[in-house]
Amino acid sequence: MTGLQTPHAGDDLAPDTDVVSLLMRQHGDIRNLFDEVEAASGEERRESFRRLVRLLAVHETAEEEVVHPFSRRAFPGGEQVVEDRLAEEHAAKEALSTLDDLDTDDPTFMPRFMKLRTDVQEHARAEERYEFIHIRRSTDATKLAAMAKAVKAAEAMAPTRPHPGVESAAANMTLGPVAALMDRTKDAVRKAMGKDG
Ligand SMILES: [Fe+2]
Ligand SMILES: [Fe+2]
Repeated sequence: MTGLQTPHAGDDLAPDTDVVSLLMRQHGDIRNLFDEVEAASGEERRESFRRLVRLLAVHETAEEEVVHPFSRRAFPGGEQVVEDRLAEEHAAKEALSTLDDLDTDDPTFMPRFMKLRTDVQEHARAEERYEFIHIRRSTDATKLAAMAKAVKAAEAMAPTRPHPGVESAAANMTLGPVAALMDRTKDAVRKAMGKDG
């Protein structure tokens, strides 16, 4: 192992070496951030929403770059499962971009936000049930770890539990379009996959 892994405080070790555990942990983080945005108001809601946008954009991009291409050829029916997940991800990204253009205090924000939450939850459940289960059964620990490393590289673009100083710096920074973040994430993932890609 090289010194590439820099776990955040509170992370356990398993997700770093198993792409399925790592992605499921991110599903949990995403769920928590949806709850946080709903419970907060004003500036606090705005900040929580920024973190959610980053994590969702980075998570879905990492899945599209790392696990979906693998699943297409890893198990029978994988091709169709991936097509279905990609369609859901495409719809979610459009909804996310639309929401990202609204202020969190806009009266139309919350209804749209709640719809996105329902869709993202259903999408995550479908991934866990129809895709992730088969990924674990279709490969070995080495490949699971290699894919985890690539997803970790993506996650570094969206720290979910930053240190206090980093937090306010990130919150003060304009995010830029969701599309630009996804492009940067793709570059990071491809670099991390190196010879695997
Ligand atoms: Fe996804
Ligand atoms: Fe996912």
